[in-house]
Amino acid sequence: MSFVSRILFKIANAFLNAGIFVWDIIITLLNLVLPKRAVGHVTPESHPGYHGYWPEYKPAQEGDSRCSCPALNAMANHGILPRNGRGITFKEMNAKIRTTYNFAPTFCLFVPNFAANMLNKSYRTDTFDLEELDLHNGIEHDASLTRVDTAANPNQSVIHAPFVEELLGSASGKAADGHQLLTSKDLSRISGKRRVEARANNPDYTLSLFHKMFGSSNSSTLLTIFGGRVEDLRSVLLEERLPSGWESRIRQPYGLTMCNFNKTVLAVEFGIKEKDHPVPDSNKQDNV
Ligand SMILES: *[C@@H]1O[C@H](CO)[C@@H](O)[C@H](O)[C@H]1NC(C)=O
Ligand SMILES: *[C@@H]1O[C@H](CO)[C@@H](O)[C@H](O)[C@H]1NC(C)=O
Ligand SMILES: *[C@@H]1O[C@H](CO)[C@@H](O)[C@H](O)[C@H]1NC(C)=O
Ligand SMILES: *[C@@H]1O[C@H](CO)[C@@H](O)[C@H](O)[C@H]1NC(C)=O
Repeated sequence: MSFVSRILFKIANAFLNAGIFVWDIIITLLNLVLPKRAVGHVTPESHPGYHGYWPEYKPAQEGDSRCSCPALNAMANHGILPRNGRGITFKEMNAKIRTTYNFAPTFCLFVPNFAANMLNKSYRTDTFDLEELDLHNGIEHDASLTRVDTAANPNQSVIHAPFVEELLGSASGKAADGHQLLTSKDLSRISGKRRVEARANNPDYTLSLFHKMFGSSNSSTLLTIFGGRVEDLRSVLLEERLPSGWESRIRQPYGLTMCNFNKTVLAVEFGIKEKDHPVPDSNKQDNV
């Protein structure tokens, strides 16, 4: 792109994002007044997962592309996105995230559009492989709740089971039906611990404010879309598999809007108190 077309592109994108925010406010309000989707009908009929029937789960095979995001990997493992994780269009990602997880159409446009810009690709015409999303400090960033830092393992599709177990083990909530629940406080606590440990163990550690918010957005997905339910998250985070019978816990007709999502994100992020966590001793340097 020439300098001038880059400027024009930036202006157009600013207008697009402003439009997305206005649209988001409108559907946030509509969500308040319109009836919720019935249990069992959150995933739209004729889409994979309707009534909790997810297409067959097959873990990634040699040569398949996967990334740092469990929710996207799970979609590929069920064949909702191409099973090889390659040649995905940004539009396809938008539509499929929406029907699988019931994120609002605004979020489902904003995030793939952000990803396309980050990769210098066209939202409308280009495709990507899942691993391309792991561009360090693009979307992928340090102090993950499920991966060791890129400096320790550049292959960000590798699940670090001890982190996931510690996360699930920290759940302090209980649902009315007795299920264990992760709470916003739990996510703040474990995120703070992870950040302190990553800073101590990884000489290349970086985490900008933007990526802190992004990390807390991941946590908020666990709390909202997955309702914090440990039993479901065990399958999603350790196997990247959607449990049979599962559907998004968001039943609002326009899905989880950015406005509503941000409430949870801010609660998690502002609840993080890094100084409450002891700095691990430096002889643990190598075994992140
Ligand atoms: C995208 O383009 C910008 C500016 O031309 C460049 O700095 C950046 O490295 C590029 N990113 C990728 C992922 O190619
Ligand atoms: C959030 O997701 C990104 C992309 O999958 C990942 O790199 C990052 O480490 C995650 N953050 C946390 C706090 O888990
Ligand atoms: C990354 O890790 C996955 C899962 O262990 C493996 O299947 C894949 O081959 C690895 N990719 C690379 C490029 O090493
Ligand atoms: C809400 O969250 C998104 C990312 O999910 C962010 O880009 C946006 O600036 C936030 N604010 C509002 C008002 O939606």
